[in-house]
Amino acid sequence: MEQTIGFCQETRPENCGFVLFGATGHLAAGKIIPALFGLCAKNLAPENLYFLFAARTELDRRTFEEHLAAAVSAAGARPSPRELKNFLEKVEYLRADYESDDFYRRLSVRLDELDAKSGLKKKRLFYLATPPAAFKSITEKLKAHSLLFDPRDCGCWSRIIIEKPYGSSLETASALDTGLKETASEAQIYRIDHFTGKETVQNVLALRAANSVFDETWNSGFIDHVQITVFEELGLEGRAGFFEKMGLARDMMSHILQLAAITAMDLPASFKDTDFKAEKRRFFESIPLLDAEAVSRQVVRAQYDGYLGETGVAAGSRAETFLAFKFHVNNDRWRGVPFYVRAGKKTGIKKTKIDLVYKKPEHGIFKTLEIGYPNIFSFEIQPAENMNFSLIAKHPGPKFCLTSRTMDLNYREHREEFASPTDYERLLIDAMAGDQTLFLSAFEVRFMWQFLSPILAAWNDGAANIPLYAYPSGAEGPKEAANLPKQDGRAWL
Ligand SMILES: NC(=O)c1ccc[n+]([C@@H]2O[C@H](COP(=O)([O-])OP(=O)(O)OC[C@H]3O[C@@H](n4cnc5c(N)ncnc54)[C@H](OP(=O)(O)O)[C@@H]3O)[C@@H](O)[C@H]2O)c1
Repeated sequence: MEQTIGFCQETRPENCGFVLFGATGHLAAGKIIPALFGLCAKNLAPENLYFLFAARTELDRRTFEEHLAAAVSAAGARPSPRELKNFLEKVEYLRADYESDDFYRRLSVRLDELDAKSGLKKKRLFYLATPPAAFKSITEKLKAHSLLFDPRDCGCWSRIIIEKPYGSSLETASALDTGLKETASEAQIYRIDHFTGKETVQNVLALRAANSVFDETWNSGFIDHVQITVFEELGLEGRAGFFEKMGLARDMMSHILQLAAITAMDLPASFKDTDFKAEKRRFFESIPLLDAEAVSRQVVRAQYDGYLGETGVAAGSRAETFLAFKFHVNNDRWRGVPFYVRAGKKTGIKKTKIDLVYKKPEHGIFKTLEIGYPNIFSFEIQPAENMNFSLIAKHPGPKFCLTSRTMDLNYREHREEFASPTDYERLLIDAMAGDQTLFLSAFEVRFMWQFLSPILAAWNDGAANIPLYAYPSGAEGPKEAANLPKQDGRAWL
């Protein structure tokens, strides 16, 4: 078994009650229920933990259990009967009526009873897996019924978890945030972007922080440019209603900016949430917003052929399924280094990847040779979990010739890693532990919308006449996206 070296920090979840609103929904079935099951099956859950699931649908116990078991197996788990039983024993269902005080009275009584049964004292997570329109009324009622309280009062705690994306514009997201802040403090709000929970994303930071050979060169002195790719092989997968309203840019921008931050932010003084967030904030504050002219020059939007024929898509829909853009970071580390981003659906391959492309040699005997970019550091985030570093070496043989070689490190090559938490499991552990490091601050969400707003405004401005290009299903976007790095003398990798 691999030994850890020097630094090994464990975030331990506290014993608590977990309340899930919107328990019959897609997010609950696809992500939250499998993650809660996973925490129990992998012995990552705290010893005393109960789940109270709520939704407006009437469900008898049997149907509810079938729903949970189906969600677990649809996520690929193959639980033994005993594992499933252990999980189901922890879960109760409560029919919700989010507008009614009677529901919150029943909820409060039942939580107190479950607390007493589990030897707990008001330590509760409320996961709002409902449409965002319901957030305000739920949190107001929780507050009114003393279910959201200030931890300083009692040595207990109550926390809210919500998912990105919430809102569909800077204004609607700000209004939702203002509504939440009326009932809960920033320290109580846990905003999830599950990309930050991925092992491979956290590994980018670990690698930079612990290996000075990389961090010393992680700047404009050595790096020519950075590429971020978030490709999905799939199309709408039955989510046309959601996607038609959002489009790819709104759906993906949070992920893109989080990947950029983890890659390029200055290293925090510590991995404590306050230090981490302060440094991330400084990074975002160094990104100049794009004006309408820049949007027309350095942002490309497109839609895959056949999108208009998908079930649930409006005739003539202009929802983009592909986005590519270039941005800069105006700080001492990155000034002058372009960041190229592309993200899309139906791109023929599922691939999330960050590439740092090092400069060509400027001195020495090889400076005049056309050898492309000799060093590229690639982080494959999903589905592959690899780090690759390409370099130039001597080709074996009697002649002195150069060749490109790649050093590969498969992040999952060690056997013990099968029990490591998934992204959602990681984030739920952290929320139970009160560690906000991997969650988004209100500032980060606001910045995401500030960055996106001029892009959306330019797209919607008929006078600006920004085209929506087409690309064949299975292609890596339209040819206009290739022009983005090409006009700077570069190419997508
Ligand atoms: N699905 C995903 O993978 C995903 C990914 C990222 C973010 N999100 C975010 O996660 C949240 C939930 O997404 P989802 O896809 O699970 O949504 P959903 O399936 O449309 O809704 C979740 C559940 O909320 C309840 N609900 C519907 N309308 C409601 C209303 N007006 N008031 C209160 N409850 C209502 C429904 O259950 P009952 O009728 O039984 O109460 C429904 O099953 C949203 O904020 C979404 O933006 C989802």
